[in-house]
Amino acid sequence: MKKALITGINGQDGSYLAEFLLDKDYDVHGIIKRNSIPENQTARIQHIYPVIKNNLYHADMCDMSSLLSVVQRVQPDEIYNLAAQSHVRVSFDQPIYTLDAIGRGTLNLLEVVRLTGATSKIYQASSSEMFGNSIDTDGFQRETTPMNPVSPYACAKLLAYNLIKCYRESYGLFAANGILFNHESPRRGTSFVTNKIVIGAVKIKKGLARNLALGNLDSTRDWGHAKDYVKIMWQLLQLDNPGDYVCATGQSHSVRELCDTTFRKLGMDYKEHVFQDPRFLRPAELNDLKGCTKKLAGVIDLNFDYTFDTMIDEMINYWMEKL
Ligand code: GDD
Repeated sequence: MKKALITGINGQDGSYLAEFLLDKDYDVHGIIKRNSIPENQTARIQHIYPVIKNNLYHADMCDMSSLLSVVQRVQPDEIYNLAAQSHVRVSFDQPIYTLDAIGRGTLNLLEVVRLTGATSKIYQASSSEMFGNSIDTDGFQRETTPMNPVSPYACAKLLAYNLIKCYRESYGLFAANGILFNHESPRRGTSFVTNKIVIGAVKIKKGLARNLALGNLDSTRDWGHAKDYVKIMWQLLQLDNPGDYVCATGQSHSVRELCDTTFRKLGMDYKEHVFQDPRFLRPAELNDLKGCTKKLAGVIDLNFDYTFDTMIDEMINYWMEKL
């Protein structure tokens, strides 16, 4: 039985990945940051909690000793580093913590693996945010596109990305970067734009709210489904050699289009409800993201279960029932 350790197991991606690995008969372990309300930390993994409750550990990416103790105890075959301060706008409010959790946190993990001589393969959750506003002439971002981060979050992710490459090349660690473009689901944090729009629209439909305040409506993103993408994380660790791969759908939509689609599916016009609130604008914006998966498609069979439309449908159905 293979053992996997997931940092951030209680996040959107961590919870889907845990399910995926349990289905593959892995012994799944996870790191959780302590919160004074423990239920908040396990909300996304309640359904698998009975199976993994003895494999959950309090640790923090900023506390190397806590990582050391977990890695020594679990001796994982695979480590998935998904923990982060993952909100781009919040990274402007908490730049130092963001850098610590993502940049130094990844270095802490790499040092634990190197110094203990562990043979664990490492997956790093790298991000399309690292590209900033660099776009190739064909409109896509790919592995060779220059990386010009425009937020503290993206700067921290770029540091972690480079550290993974550095430890792979310097020490021969099996360390892979998945450069994931935005990925969503009903489990997405409610302050990210997809779930914020879907929840806002459903509340308006049900008469629980009248309006929805958003930031920039003109940026475009390449939105895939988190459930499809966790499979790729695993596949990257099953390759003969570790590498760095873009994972995306290759299609982009603006935030405005996302509003239009969501409100239309609920029989409403977003223009009557959505307004711009400067509080949700960012000091610097990443305008357009669209990923090219040619390199990834060269090493694995790429087929996603979800489309943009079926993903939005799933999110709407979830919140229509829940609210
Ligand atoms: N969150 C948020 N809230 N975003 C808004 C809002 C709002 O009210 N209004 C407009 N937006 C715009 C943002 O300015 C951005 O251009 C776009 O919606 C998407 O924002 P988010 O959903 O917050 O995601 P993100 O693109 O900044 O970052 C996500 O994707 C990255 C991968 O590219 C996060 O998941 C990152 O952790 C991830 O690395």
